[in-house]
Amino acid sequence: MNNDFKEVSSVESMIRDISLAPKGQLKIDWVAQHMPILNQLKKDFEKRKPLAGKRVIICLHLEAKTAYLALTVKAAGAEVAVCGSNPLSTQDDVVAALVQNGVTAYAWYGATDEEYKMHLNKALDFQPDILIDDGGDLVATLHAERPEQAKKIVGGAEETTTGILRLKALAKEGHLSFPMMAVNDAQMKYLFDNRYGTGQSVWDAIMRTTNLVVCGKVVVVGGYGWCGKGVAARARGLNARIVVTEIDPVKANEALMDGFEVMPMVEAAKIGDVFVTVTGNRDIVRREHLEVIKDKAILCNAGHFDVEVNKEDLRALSTSVRIARNNIEEYTFRDGRKVYLLGEGRLVNLACGDGHPAEVMDLTFALQAMSLEYVFTNREQLEPKVYPVPEEIDRKIAQLRLQALGVSIDELTEVQSKYLNSWQE
Ligand SMILES: NC(=O)c1ccc[n+]([C@@H]2O[C@H](COP(=O)([O-])OP(=O)(O)OC[C@H]3O[C@@H](n4cnc5c(N)ncnc54)[C@H](O)[C@@H]3O)[C@@H](O)[C@H]2O)c1
Repeated sequence: MNNDFKEVSSVESMIRDISLAPKGQLKIDWVAQHMPILNQLKKDFEKRKPLAGKRVIICLHLEAKTAYLALTVKAAGAEVAVCGSNPLSTQDDVVAALVQNGVTAYAWYGATDEEYKMHLNKALDFQPDILIDDGGDLVATLHAERPEQAKKIVGGAEETTTGILRLKALAKEGHLSFPMMAVNDAQMKYLFDNRYGTGQSVWDAIMRTTNLVVCGKVVVVGGYGWCGKGVAARARGLNARIVVTEIDPVKANEALMDGFEVMPMVEAAKIGDVFVTVTGNRDIVRREHLEVIKDKAILCNAGHFDVEVNKEDLRALSTSVRIARNNIEEYTFRDGRKVYLLGEGRLVNLACGDGHPAEVMDLTFALQAMSLEYVFTNREQLEPKVYPVPEEIDRKIAQLRLQALGVSIDELTEVQSKYLNSWQE
């Protein structure tokens, strides 16, 4: 796997196989037909070229929707390079198609840790002015290993909850070198992508990977944040019996009032058939849980990093590990119990599936494209901080989505507007 990359199209690209491009192009064409907001932005960018001559790197899950975002940013006049934000979510055919469309790419499916880091560094060698990160690996590499280069970055945008936590930690220590837009925290992101996107794509991935029923099973959802709410709601739709684990008493109450059982993981471990961790934290399923876990339990993770199911503990308790089916590792414990881990404990919806539906990523990536333009246009005013996406951008995307669907809504009358803004009536 190490040295079989080809350098194609542009001298710098490092990808698996350019001959896969036609298959990747079909995938991109399909999602483009279902991303009306990005289509509109792309047309607008083609006319205005707001990022003319700038270099942008995009570090995201490299599948078809991301590819269409890369082409949209390219339409804004930028030179674009991409690298993966997870070794198992890169689709080699999509990356090949991107290279054929003039985007430089450093990624292949199944990259080792060293290869993954090499791809990040190659992307940074591209000398970007602006960047998109997902989970914070690119920004962390810049700050830890390339502080001089970090100072030259105009700004960027972060995709996910975990990345924003890392950015805020960096900013708190006073080390963040450039402004970053917190795309995840925009309403048009987390209310739809984290909740409905993760909800649907996680179950799509679990079902296609295992080919087992969900109805009647006990599904344990670790974490009842935006993603967890979506995963639990879709599991209910599949007629599963749902248990939620939490550490936040407010979220635990929400889960109870939504009609789910709540208990500690050590209790849930004994009764769960399918476990989905989605906390952004680590060790949600660890030794003490594995020691009592039900035989043939299915473990998977939808949080950003592969640390939510403790794989060291899994290995330590096992006498053997084998691949039981594509993307399923079967761990056999000393007492004969088996547990199955999907997609190496990496984000199951991307490692074992195609990620969120195109219509959902249309919203997220429209936010990304508009945030990039915003950070670049306002570069003189912005400081090295984590910024919320401006409300106007959030609302514009909400309106564009309604327009695309042909849905109209009421407007406030003058009297209503006055009523809402007065304290005397
Ligand atoms: N798979 C995907 O496609 C996808 C999409 C969006 C976000 N994410 C990732 O999913 C993770 C969660 O994102 P979110 O937006 O739902 O975050 P969130 O902050 O809304 O929710 C996380 C929840 O986990 C809970 N939690 C933390 N530690 C816990 C523990 N030890 N046990 C039980 N619960 C615990 C928190 O109290 C919180 O309610 C992040 O890593 C994020 O980056 C993944």
